[in-house]
Amino acid sequence: MTRVLVAYATRFGSTREIASAIVHELNAGGLSAQAVETGSGLVTDDYDAFVIGSPLYGGTWLSSAGVFAAILAERINGKPVALFSVGTLILKSPKRGRGEHTEFIEGLVEVTRSSVGLNVVSDALFPGYFDRANLPWMLRIVDRFVPTPQGDHRNWPEIQQWARSLAPKFDASLANESQPGAEIQ
Ligand SMILES: Cc1cc2nc3c(=O)[nH]c(=O)nc-3n(C[C@H](O)[C@H](O)[C@H](O)COP(=O)(O)O)c2cc1C
Repeated sequence: MTRVLVAYATRFGSTREIASAIVHELNAGGLSAQAVETGSGLVTDDYDAFVIGSPLYGGTWLSSAGVFAAILAERINGKPVALFSVGTLILKSPKRGRGEHTEFIEGLVEVTRSSVGLNVVSDALFPGYFDRANLPWMLRIVDRFVPTPQGDHRNWPEIQQWARSLAPKFDASLANESQPGAEIQ
């Protein structure tokens, strides 16, 4: 049974709930998944595959998630990893929102290249939960000019579909890894 660790960072809880939904889908698909918060200080490599997710704040992941991914990359010797970001910029500016996600993921892959690197088999950007009250006062002023739609924008069917798509990608990567002479990307 493929053991999967779903590691997430969160400030206000919406990414935790996405991580839980991913765990639920993976377990329903016959994998053995569990969630851990990246800020817990626990970086364990005792799994076959990994999902790591973070909300975007100011265009980047929360640092605990980035650090978790970088440390993990050193330890997992090319095991498959899926990455997801959560954000609300995509709602008012899809191109910029997606650009933040792509830029962060590319940067992460680049910094881990000095070791074996991260074997990213899938990545996704999900719209998150926006509560204006969570903005620092300066950003509340900025938000008045181009307001982000208030509320819960998480698309649960999209999240579930992505989670379901991971099992075959993990399997393919793990099968490739166990082939004699298989190269890690
Ligand atoms: C201060 C602040 C900055 C944010 N910056 C971004 C951003 O740069 N890009 C983005 O897509 N979303 C941004 N968001 C939206 C959050 O990513 C979104 O609310 C997410 O669901 C929060 O996840 P969490 O509840 O797990 O902390 C920001 C939200 C706040 C309050």
